[in-house]
Amino acid sequence: MNYDLIVIGLSLILTIAIIFLSMVLLPITIVFILSIIYFRYKFTKNKDKSTINVAFFHPYCTAGGGGERVLWCAIRSLQNEYPGIKISVYTGDQKEDSEIFAMIKKTFNLMLDEKNCHFIRLKKRGLVEASRWPRFTLIGQSLGSMVLAWEALNLLNPDLFIDSMGYAFTYPIFKIFGGSHIAAYIHYPTISTDMLSKVSNSTESYNNNESISKSKFKTSAKLIYYKLFSKLYYLAGKFSNIVMCNGTWTANHIRNIWKIDRVSIVYPPVDVESRKAMPLNWMQRENIILSIAQFRPEKDHPLQLYTLAQLLQKYPIHKNELRTKLVMVGSCRDQQDRDRVESLRKLSIELGIESNVEFKIGIPIQELNRLLEISSVGIHTMWCEHFGIGVVELAAAGVIPVAHNSAGPKEDIVKHDQTGFLASTKEEYAEYIHEILAFREKYKDMQQKARESVDRFSQENFENHFKNSFSIFFDNKKNQ
Ligand SMILES: *[C@@H]1O[C@H](CO)[C@@H](O)[C@H](O)[C@H]1NC(C)=O
Ligand SMILES: *[C@@H]1O[C@H](CO)[C@@H](O)[C@H](O)[C@H]1NC(C)=O
Ligand SMILES: *[C@@H]1O[C@H](CO)[C@@H](O)[C@H](O)[C@H]1NC(C)=O
Repeated sequence: MNYDLIVIGLSLILTIAIIFLSMVLLPITIVFILSIIYFRYKFTKNKDKSTINVAFFHPYCTAGGGGERVLWCAIRSLQNEYPGIKISVYTGDQKEDSEIFAMIKKTFNLMLDEKNCHFIRLKKRGLVEASRWPRFTLIGQSLGSMVLAWEALNLLNPDLFIDSMGYAFTYPIFKIFGGSHIAAYIHYPTISTDMLSKVSNSTESYNNNESISKSKFKTSAKLIYYKLFSKLYYLAGKFSNIVMCNGTWTANHIRNIWKIDRVSIVYPPVDVESRKAMPLNWMQRENIILSIAQFRPEKDHPLQLYTLAQLLQKYPIHKNELRTKLVMVGSCRDQQDRDRVESLRKLSIELGIESNVEFKIGIPIQELNRLLEISSVGIHTMWCEHFGIGVVELAAAGVIPVAHNSAGPKEDIVKHDQTGFLASTKEEYAEYIHEILAFREKYKDMQQKARESVDRFSQENFENHFKNSFSIFFDNKKNQ
C-alpha cells in the first residue's frame, strides 16, 4: 500500500514537472529561437553582398600601445593582400578620421590605405571600462562587451569579424545573430589557469585557521566565481573560427581553457628594423653588460648584482684587464622604484662591486642607442616573463642576450648556446658572461645569429603570418 502512495506521489511530481516545463521552458525556448531567426533575418536582409566586409573590434584604437601596432599592421596586411575587401574598425574613439590617421603615422610610422579603412563609432564603450564594474569586474566587463557588440552589429554586420582586443564574449553575438566568421588575435587570456591556481592555493593554505575562516569562505566563493567565469569564457571561445595568439605562453593558456587545437602563434610586430641598422662591430665593443628593465621587483635586479660579484670574484681578469662593467638602464615609475634603486646601490657597495656598476635612470633614447652599440652582453633576469621584448631588442642591436631560463625568453626568443644563453643562478649567469667576454672571437657568429633570429618578430613577418591565417576563408568566399 505504501508503494502505491509512493508511485502516485512520484507520478504527480512528474506530471507537475512536465506541465511546468512545457508551460515555462518551452515558450522561453521558442521565443529564444524565434528571436534568433528574426534578428538573423534582420541583420542579413540588407547585407551588402557585392563586397566582403571585414570588421575589427577594437574599442580603444587610438591608445597607441603594442596592441594598436598589431591592429594597424594587421589592417595594412589585409589591405595589401586582398584589395577587393572593405575594412572597418569598431571603435569608441570619437576623433576625426584624419586625426586618427595622423596619429598612426606619427606613433607607428605606418601608412594605411585611408580610403579603405572605415571607422564605425560606438557610443557605449563605457560599458567595458573596469571602473564601471568595481565588483564582479570580469563578468561585468564581459556583459558590457556583449551589449557593445550588439550596438556594433546593428551598425554593420561583417562577413569576417576580427577581435583584436580579447573581448571573447562578443563572438556569440556576431556568430549567432550576424552569422559572421569569427577570428581572434589574443594578447592575453581574460582568465588564466594561473589565476585559478593562485586562488585555490590560497584556499588550501588557509586550512584550519579559525581566525581567518571568514576569508577562507571568501576565497572559496571567489574560486567558484572564477571557475564559473572560466566555464563561460570556454563557451565563448567555442564560437571562434580562427585563433591567433601573440606568443607561446598565451597560446598554451588559450589551448588549455578553450580546449581547442586550432590556435596558431603569430608574434606581434616589434620594431627590430631600427635596431638592426646599428653596426655589429663585435671586436670593438666594450666589456659592458647591459641591463634594460624598469626598476620593478619582478625584474630581479639583485640577481644581476650577485652575478657581477660572482664574476669578479671567480675571474679577476674582469676586474683588471677587461674592466667589465654592469650598466643598469631603467625608468622609475614612483617613489617605491626610486627606493629600490637606492637599495640596489647599497647592495652593490656591500658586495664591493660599486666601481663596476653604473645606474642610468630615465636616460634619453640617444644615450640608450649608444649603449646598445657599444655593449657586448645583455642580461635579463626576470623569472617567467611572458615574452621579453627587451631581449628581442638586445639581440637585434647585436648585444648577445643572457636571459632567464623560463617562459618567454626560453620558449620564444633565445636558442641556448646558439643565439644567446639561458641561465637561472648567479653561477650560471657568471659562467656564460665570462665565456662571451673572455673568449670574444668565438662569439662573433653568435652575435650575427642572434640578430638574424629576431627577424621572426619583424613587422614583415607578422604581416605575412597574419594574412596567411585568412587564406582559406578568402578562398572559400571567392568560390561561393
Ligand atoms: C602578448 O601580450 C601581452 C599583453 O600585452 C604581453 O605581456 C606579452 O609580452 C605579449 N607577448 C608577446 C610574445 O609579445
Ligand atoms: C599552486 O600550488 C602548486 C602545487 O603546490 C604549485 O605547483 C603552483 O605553482 C602553485 N601556483 C601558484 C600560482 O602559486
Ligand atoms: C591564524 O593565522 C594568523 C595569521 O597567519 C596567525 O596570526 C594566527 O595565530 C593563526 N591562528 C591559529 C589559531 O593558528
